[in-house]
Amino acid sequence: MVRRDEVRNGEKTVTMPETPDAGVVFIGRIHSPWTDRLTCPRLGRMDGPICRIEIFEPWVDALKGIDEYERLEVLYWLHQSRRDLILQSPKNDGIARGAFSLRSPVRPNPIGTQNVKLVRIEGPNVFVQSLDCLDGTPLLDLKPDRDLFTPIAPRQTGDDETRNAASGDER
Ligand SMILES: C[S@@+](CC[C@H](N)C(=O)[O-])C[C@H]1O[C@@H](n2cnc3c(N)ncnc32)[C@H](O)[C@@H]1O
Repeated sequence: MVRRDEVRNGEKTVTMPETPDAGVVFIGRIHSPWTDRLTCPRLGRMDGPICRIEIFEPWVDALKGIDEYERLEVLYWLHQSRRDLILQSPKNDGIARGAFSLRSPVRPNPIGTQNVKLVRIEGPNVFVQSLDCLDGTPLLDLKPDRDLFTPIAPRQTGDDETRNAASGDER
């Protein structure tokens, strides 16, 4: 599956819908040392190679303020992944797990996310450590790491709701 696009013993594919429910825009491209899925790290590490995230115009101004954060969350489109494999056998031992119980790149919407260390910013280029994707991987979004971010907008009612407040599912 992930490694060579084969379907292994115990795995299951489904037919993907013909039309997508939403569209995304690639806002940049990730430049990394890895050109092959077989040698790419499975999960990036904070002391890993420095990678360059190139932001395309007209999105470069959206970087304003990002240098306040030591760590960022990067979302990317794992563009070489198949999307139809819902049961996967990572060890190829006949034991399959659901795609949603894995961080496999093979998923219905092949979105990768990674918390990274911000190294520096040079114009439209953001240099980071801890990525784990192929050179040329399309960029979907950049955000401050959630643990470092406090909402800047004024508080609103839902911010203080707890389990005992009205909830959609349990009504
Ligand atoms: C296990 S995924 C983890 C991605 C992300 N850190 C996450 O947890 O959502 C990383 C693996 O995806 C594969 N991969 C990396 N870039 C890819 C791309 N652009 N398209 C398809 N597969 C990719 C490589 O095999 C790599 O080892």
